[in-house]
Amino acid sequence: MSETTTSTEGRTFSPPEQITAQANVGPDVYDEASRDRLAFWAKAAERLHWEQPWDEVLDWSNPPFAKWFVGGKLNVAYNCVDRHVEAGHGEQVAYHWEGEPGDTRTITYAQLKDDVSRAANALLELGVQAGDRVAIYMPMIPETVIAMLACARIGAVHMVVFGGFSPDALASRITDAGAQVVITADGGYRRGAPSALKPNVDEALTRTEGVRSVLVVRRTEQDVEWTEGRDVWWHDLVDRQSPEHTPEAFDAEHPLYIMYTSGTTAKPKGILHTTGGYLTQVAYTHWATFDLKPDTDVYWTAADVGWVTGHSYIVYGPLANRATSVMYEGTPETPHRGRWFELIQKYGVTVLYTAPTVIRTFMKWGEDIPAGFDLTTLRLLGSVGEPINPEAWLWYHEHIGGGRCPIVDTWWQTETGAHMITPLPGVTSLVPGSAQHPFPGISAKVVDDEGNELGDDSTGLLVLTEPWPSMLRTIWGDDDRYVDTYWSRFGKNVYFAGDGAKKDADGNIWLLGRVDDVMNVSGHRISTTEVESSLVGHPTVAEAAVVGASDPTTGQGIVAFVILRGTAEDSGDELVQTLRNHVARDIGPIAKPRQIMVVQELPKTRSGKIMRRLLRDIAENRELGDVTTLTDSSVMELIKEKLPATPSED
Ligand code: WTA
Repeated sequence: MSETTTSTEGRTFSPPEQITAQANVGPDVYDEASRDRLAFWAKAAERLHWEQPWDEVLDWSNPPFAKWFVGGKLNVAYNCVDRHVEAGHGEQVAYHWEGEPGDTRTITYAQLKDDVSRAANALLELGVQAGDRVAIYMPMIPETVIAMLACARIGAVHMVVFGGFSPDALASRITDAGAQVVITADGGYRRGAPSALKPNVDEALTRTEGVRSVLVVRRTEQDVEWTEGRDVWWHDLVDRQSPEHTPEAFDAEHPLYIMYTSGTTAKPKGILHTTGGYLTQVAYTHWATFDLKPDTDVYWTAADVGWVTGHSYIVYGPLANRATSVMYEGTPETPHRGRWFELIQKYGVTVLYTAPTVIRTFMKWGEDIPAGFDLTTLRLLGSVGEPINPEAWLWYHEHIGGGRCPIVDTWWQTETGAHMITPLPGVTSLVPGSAQHPFPGISAKVVDDEGNELGDDSTGLLVLTEPWPSMLRTIWGDDDRYVDTYWSRFGKNVYFAGDGAKKDADGNIWLLGRVDDVMNVSGHRISTTEVESSLVGHPTVAEAAVVGASDPTTGQGIVAFVILRGTAEDSGDELVQTLRNHVARDIGPIAKPRQIMVVQELPKTRSGKIMRRLLRDIAENRELGDVTTLTDSSVMELIKEKLPATPSED
């Protein structure tokens, strides 16, 4: 694609002719949506199969509790699977699955329909009913998708916990969601070795009550402990079920899933998504943002199903659009650093969606690696999870996209369910580093601290001023927290996203990162408080303060400052390693601090609040900002003296 003009913010890239000529959506989509937003979303919903039509598109009479497609009924699994088979596409591949060791499975829509039906029948045999919660703690294998769809098919609410989370994190989510069934595997392959999951489930279940069945997929053939009467092998139960199951239509507002995400307190929030609006927006955005052509594209979201990106753009969006997808179990460097490129070449991937942290890692490894593979099938690239810096954007464009593929930088959240701010590949002239424009039918604004809308060329807070179909409906079991967290800062009609944003002179939106105590490490949200409370849970630690310091590869890195208990001995490196491992065990390896500094004091205001801004200055090796509000400004000197020369690796 050609570089055309120069905007005030640098280079821009106009959409390539081959894309605009056949794009699923053209420029008129913005006008259409702004003329009548609800009619626009109703038309998007009509792309799905409804068993019963809705009476009203949106009920917003009790904000912030929205109801979309009121009175409508549909089955999500039917929409994602059966209807494509009925339309004659049963032989089309739904997933080219590749295991990390190189084993493969090809799953057609017809097979997926049989597999999902068997799994649905199995869940029914386990006594699962519509509305029940089912925890899913799995590696990236086809059974994970099958389990999610089986839940959706019978109206059970799935709650997927990322396989990298600890037994404690799993237990607290199971308790909060009230799950009675857990679906897991013996393990999965990561970094060249089997990584066990079942022992974590066993441990988690010693800390939570109410789980009566554990359904276990055999993947790695590791030895597992077995609790008779509770544990059951997937191949024993599911394989003998009938491949026939008649899906029941559920209300548009029937709960579809809960996904936990970090907030500003130590307790993760169970974000609740429902049926009709969610499927409408993930399907429509997947089709429009990625210009998805079901007959010719090979689509790959390189993310884990354990995050919202996997839910919306590995499972629900692509399947609703009858996409052929690639699904990969392992890590990018196993068995070699060209693995992803090898997969793109092998399957002829046309659309790739991933996170900036991965792009920056590839940059570090060097452009010779992608250059060794045939990547010419790619026609479109996507980015998600954190701001993509222009340098990484340009590298992605050049060395993976061969200078010809548009990049869609998609801003959204677990809470929003689907894309909210993104360029459209056949319409938008791209500005590297900016997510640019609200998606059609979405009202995103940048406001000041009082909620006044800001014009171009200003910086403030990002808000959403109209409800959208795939919005979260509440925090599971905690309506008050839902209102407090998202809808209180600027009133009950304005959603506060928690991100800072800038509007440039051309009206493009640039996301500037979180404005609350949430860190973004490799595109994963982790709350500072959660890590702090893990650290103070260790017997040697009296007090802890955690900040996200900018990191050239992971976006932010976790830096902790700890004060030891009087009785604890500072054994230097050994203690630091112990504490890092403690957090990894407590929350999960993704929360392992990059750096821990043992200090005598923490900088506090006179009201006792820890001044994270100053700690961040230290962690980022900056000149200290204003210290006049500190109780004791010499504290900072003491901390600086303790600074190690280099942060710890791994
Ligand atoms: C950040 C992931 C800049 C943002 C889908 C948001 C981004 C949080 C982008 C949500 C982007 C996500 N540009 N920042 N394109 N995409 N973010 O819930 O801070 O895991 O609030 O959802 O990631 O993270 P979550």
